[in-house]
Amino acid sequence: MSTVHRHHIAVIGTGYVGLTAGACLASLGHRVVCADMDPDKVERLTRGEIPILEESLPELVREGLDSGLLTFVLGAEKAICDAETVFVCVGTPMSPDGDLDMTAVDAVADEIRDLLPHGCALVTKSTVPVGTAARLTRRLDRPDVAVVSNPEFLREGTSVHDFLHPDRVVVGADDREAAERVAALYATLDAPMVITDAASAELIKYAANCFLAVKLSYVNVIAELCERVGADVGQVATAMGKDHRIGGAFLRPGPGWGGSCLPKDTRAMLRTAETADVDFQLLRAAIDVNIHQRERIADKIARLCGTDSATPLDGVRIGVLGLTFKAGTDDMRDSPAVALAGALARLGAELVAYDPVLTVGGTPAAPVPDVTVVDDPYEAGKGAACLVLCTEWPEFRDLDWNLMAKALDRPLVVDTRNHLDPEALRAAGIAWHGVGVRPVTGLAGDPVTGTADSPVTEQRPAAVPQPG
Ligand code: UGA
Repeated sequence: MSTVHRHHIAVIGTGYVGLTAGACLASLGHRVVCADMDPDKVERLTRGEIPILEESLPELVREGLDSGLLTFVLGAEKAICDAETVFVCVGTPMSPDGDLDMTAVDAVADEIRDLLPHGCALVTKSTVPVGTAARLTRRLDRPDVAVVSNPEFLREGTSVHDFLHPDRVVVGADDREAAERVAALYATLDAPMVITDAASAELIKYAANCFLAVKLSYVNVIAELCERVGADVGQVATAMGKDHRIGGAFLRPGPGWGGSCLPKDTRAMLRTAETADVDFQLLRAAIDVNIHQRERIADKIARLCGTDSATPLDGVRIGVLGLTFKAGTDDMRDSPAVALAGALARLGAELVAYDPVLTVGGTPAAPVPDVTVVDDPYEAGKGAACLVLCTEWPEFRDLDWNLMAKALDRPLVVDTRNHLDPEALRAAGIAWHGVGVRPVTGLAGDPVTGTADSPVTEQRPAAVPQPG
C-alpha cells in the first residue's frame, strides 16, 4: 500500500494499542519509531518477538522490521527527534479511587516537552478523560505543538483488522489544520473520517464503549427474562438485530462483559458525568447489571449442584473452561471468567480450570486467584459436579463429550456463552444449561418436558448474532 506522503511518526508505549498502531501505520507506508521504557521488551520486539497474542500482529511487525519502516527504541527521546506526529499510547489504568491514573501520560508529556520538534502534533491514542487535550496543551506550554485526540476503536484479538478496516477514524483538535494533518495519516484507508474538536473526540470514545456496555447489559437482562418466561434469547436477539436501527452485533448474552476497556471506561465515564453534574443512571445500571450477571450465574450453578447452606458449594469441585475475558486473546484483565470463579469460590467451590492459551509447555502461565489451572480440558472436568464454560474458544465445541462425561462426577455443563452444541452433550448423556434458553437434558431420544433450570427439553438455542 502506498501513501501520498510518508510521515515520520513516533509511538510512545508498545502495549496493545501502541504496538498495533505502530505496526499498522508502518504497513500504510509511514516511517514509525516505537519507544518503550522496558529494555527487554524493546530487544524482543526488535527481534520480532511479540509479547501478546494478537492475530496478524507478528507478521505485520516482521514486515515492518524487514522493510525498515518500523523500528523499536528505548526511551521516548530517541523516537521523537524528527517526528512530525507523536502518538502517546501509554497505559491509563484505573486508580483505586476510580479515577484514571494519568501518571504515565503526564510523565511522557513532561519528558518530551522540550524535545518535541517544532510544529509537530502530539496525539493521544490511549483512552483519556475528556479534557485531557486541553490539560496537556497547558502542561506542555508549547504553542507551536498541537495536541490532538485520535481515539482507537480496536478490539483485542482482532486489533490489526480493526485498525486497517475501521468503521470510522476520529480526529479531534481545537487546531483544525493539525487535526487534518493527523487525519492525512489514514488517507489510504477506506473509512469515514470524523474531524472534530478535541473534547468531542475524547467523548466519542467513551460514548461508544459505554453504549456497547449498555447494549450487553440490556441483552443479559433480556436473557434472564427469557429464562423466567420460557423464551429463547437467541431468537429474541436475532430478531431484534434485524432492525437496522439496533443491529445484530454485541447482542450475545454471556457471563457479563469484561476486559481491559469496557469496565474501566464505564467507570471513568461515570466519573466524568459526576464531575459535570450529570446523573448518568443508565450507565450505573449497566454496571450493576454486569455485577448481577456474574452473581446470578454463580447462584444458578449453586442451585443446580449445591446445598441450602450459606456456602452451598462447600467442597464441591467445579471445572471451568476458559479464563481469558473473551476468545482470541490471552488477556485476563477484568475477565468475567475470573470474576465468576471468585463468586463460586465465595460459595465454597473448589475450582479447576483449563484455558488453551494459559498454559505454556504444560505449566500455567500465571496464577489465578481461587483457581487451579491445568493443561487439559478433561482434567478440569475430572471429578467435577459441574463444568462451566466461560470463554468461547472454538475448540471447546470439538471436545470429546463422551470422554468428558466419564471424567465428570455429575454430567452437567453450564454454558455461559451458549457456545456449545447442546445436542452433542445430550448424546453423551450430559445436561446442558445455557443463558436465556431452556436447558437441554436427558438422554437423546427420551421424551422431554420441563421448565427452566431443572428441566428437560428438546429445544435447541437459536444462533445468536455475531459481532460485526
Ligand atoms: C472494546 C471495544 O469493543 C473496542 O471497540 C474498543 O476499542 C476497546 O474496547 C478499547 O477501548 O480499547 P475489547 O475490550 O477488545 O474492545 O473487547 P470486546 O470485544 O468489546 O468485548 C468486551 C466484553 O464483552 C468481553 O467480555 C466479551 O466477551 C463481551 N461480549 C462482547 C459479550 O458478552 N457479548 C457480545 O455480543 C460481545
